[in-house]
Amino acid sequence: MTFTLTDDSALLQPITIGANTARNRLFMAPLTRSRAQSDGTPSDLQVEYYAQRASAGLIITEATAISQVGNGAYVNTPGIYTDGHQEKWAEVASAVHAQDGLMFMQIWHVGRMAHPDINGAESVAPSAIAAKMLAHTPGGKKPLPVPRALDTDEIAGVVAQFRDAARRAIDAGLDGVEIHSANGYLLHQFLADATNTRTDRYGGTAENRARLTAEVVEAVAAEIGADRVGLRISPGNGAGDVNEVDTVSAYEALLERISSLGLAYLHVLINPDAPEFGIVRALWSGPFVLNTGREVETSFCELENLADWGAISAAAVGRAYLANPDLIDRLRTGAELTEPDVATFYSPGPAGYVDYPTLAPTA
Ligand SMILES: Cc1cc2nc3c(=O)[nH]c(=O)nc-3n(C[C@H](O)[C@H](O)[C@H](O)COP(=O)(O)O)c2cc1C
Repeated sequence: MTFTLTDDSALLQPITIGANTARNRLFMAPLTRSRAQSDGTPSDLQVEYYAQRASAGLIITEATAISQVGNGAYVNTPGIYTDGHQEKWAEVASAVHAQDGLMFMQIWHVGRMAHPDINGAESVAPSAIAAKMLAHTPGGKKPLPVPRALDTDEIAGVVAQFRDAARRAIDAGLDGVEIHSANGYLLHQFLADATNTRTDRYGGTAENRARLTAEVVEAVAAEIGADRVGLRISPGNGAGDVNEVDTVSAYEALLERISSLGLAYLHVLINPDAPEFGIVRALWSGPFVLNTGREVETSFCELENLADWGAISAAAVGRAYLANPDLIDRLRTGAELTEPDVATFYSPGPAGYVDYPTLAPTA
């Protein structure tokens, strides 16, 4: 399949997102690829992979854990909670910067999606409700355990871990962080009514369910500057068996609370035809990044239209960047887009990771 973006396309124009300027509006969505070392330290392959994709307006890294307990959903996912993690991320950031790229780290706690065979620890969540799903552990597929509900007085510690992870990301030279409050992981588990049955100030009302994400955003913004902080949400996304009944109120409460902070951007994974899209869009006046999750055939045309109308500030695409390190060049020239190979999304080693072809240089 091919798609051409002309030089005057809205998606190819630069955009200021807080403290940084992205050279185009096609951002690379966060993609877990399981190529880190077993202790969460990034690998040399990751340095190469991200450098290959530096022409994206913004690279949002794969979800990167803020703690060992928060790092247990999949094997070989990276962390940002030790000096060793930070040192290797610094190498990744400088390889991307050497190509004039811009890079935010997505920071993550998996909550109840953790399996003890993966993190060597426990799994924690707003409430002791298991996701009815299987974890891919080194010993095969196993049901996810019932998580331990976090005590009220433990929650400040989780907020501090997000803050410390953000500090480490900046100290490693990344340009900012994206707080992962989407796709059924810890912060989304607090937002969602089906997974959060707490009766303290972190559960019950919409404001209470939004409180943890809001506190994390505020703490991270105070630490590194709001203009280096993005936030990802996915209202109504049932990933991780989260299955919200009320897909609106907690997001309204969240956006109302944080809208005046001046964040770099809000990143929303949602079908733009869904009613929640219009609701969250209306509540956000800063840079708005959309990831539709639609198939490539429809998505570029739709994203270009939305950007042209000013309905979105930028678009994030995942699988297209995964399979096309030089996506921007291909779109500019109308070259054929390579299809992603699902079998190697999470497999170890370079195959399907750093060996997707780039166009031959033009004379
Ligand atoms: C292999 C793979 C890994 C993913 N990992 C993450 C992740 O780490 N964090 C996240 O927020 N979303 C993750 N997602 C979701 C993507 O960011 C994106 O929302 C999804 O792929 C739909 O966008 P696309 O159609 O442009 O690929 C992942 C998706 C895929 C396919």
